[in-house]
Amino acid sequence: MYRYFLSSLGTSLEHDSNGSYLMTKHGHPSTTALSVNDLHKDYQLGNTRLAVLKGLSIDVAVGEMVAIMGPSGSGKTTLLNCISGIDIPDRGTVSINSNTVEFASETARTLLRRHQIGIIFQFFNLIPTLTVRENVSLPFLISKNSTPKKHREIDLLLEIVGMNQRSDHYPFQLSGGEMQLVSIARALVHKPSLVLADEPTGNVNPRVGRSIMEILRKTTKKQNTGVLMVTHSSEHASWADRICFLKEGVIVDEFRQFGQHDEVSAIYNKLMSLEI
Ligand SMILES: Nc1ncnc2c1ncn2[C@@H]1O[C@H](COP(=O)(O)OP(=O)(O)O)[C@@H](O)[C@H]1O
Ligand SMILES: [Mg+2]
Repeated sequence: MYRYFLSSLGTSLEHDSNGSYLMTKHGHPSTTALSVNDLHKDYQLGNTRLAVLKGLSIDVAVGEMVAIMGPSGSGKTTLLNCISGIDIPDRGTVSINSNTVEFASETARTLLRRHQIGIIFQFFNLIPTLTVRENVSLPFLISKNSTPKKHREIDLLLEIVGMNQRSDHYPFQLSGGEMQLVSIARALVHKPSLVLADEPTGNVNPRVGRSIMEILRKTTKKQNTGVLMVTHSSEHASWADRICFLKEGVIVDEFRQFGQHDEVSAIYNKLMSLEI
């Protein structure tokens, strides 16, 4: 039942190895956390083919937070799923820290999610039978990497997201906002180089939404993580360094925000002019 949750987190248990063959052999440190080039993805619906991504390219620098805005059904989730290897693009390349993702290998895609990427899902995807602490520990449990240092990191993150008093509770004992805060701790705990967030504030109240933006900004800045975040909220997009507008399968425009968060009118005007 939880197979989807597990595999989406890079927890396909049948594969266990170090992360080394995740990446091309000659990968080197870079200033680009993510580079997506000419990505194409179609879905077959009966006899018709639905072209969702039509040659989309986007980059996220190390330590940069990029927001994606676009109409519902424009392919935002498809893009994130192709980056994380949950889905496989038809054409195009994805590089994480200058290493090209090997889509043909399921093991490589699983290890990618386990070691390099933190994913924040719109509907949290917590495992109901695990406590808050166990859910956050999941990336370490799966890589069998559970040292006292890791335990301190879990405690620290639970404190950062304000859930340290709730660590023995189960997801059903939490509100939606609290579940999302736990899922953020889980996405950050293994210090991924790239965080993908799919409408992380879509199902939480405004106060929690703001805390989520603060946590994402602060912790990722500290760890030099690249963040790619889908949002419909101009207010939350304004926390990003850059906003990319996705329409008809490509990035049609972008807007530099320069950390001027809460400056939303220009974003709103852009959405209106692009008919998003
Ligand atoms: N697995 C799938 N099979 C068929 N169509 C899909 C699948 N996933 C997404 N789609 C379609 O692709 C389009 C883009 O979906 P999605 O990426 O979820 O959009 P967004 O996240 O921007 O709202 C939609 O029309 C959706 O119905
Ligand atoms: Mg979506």
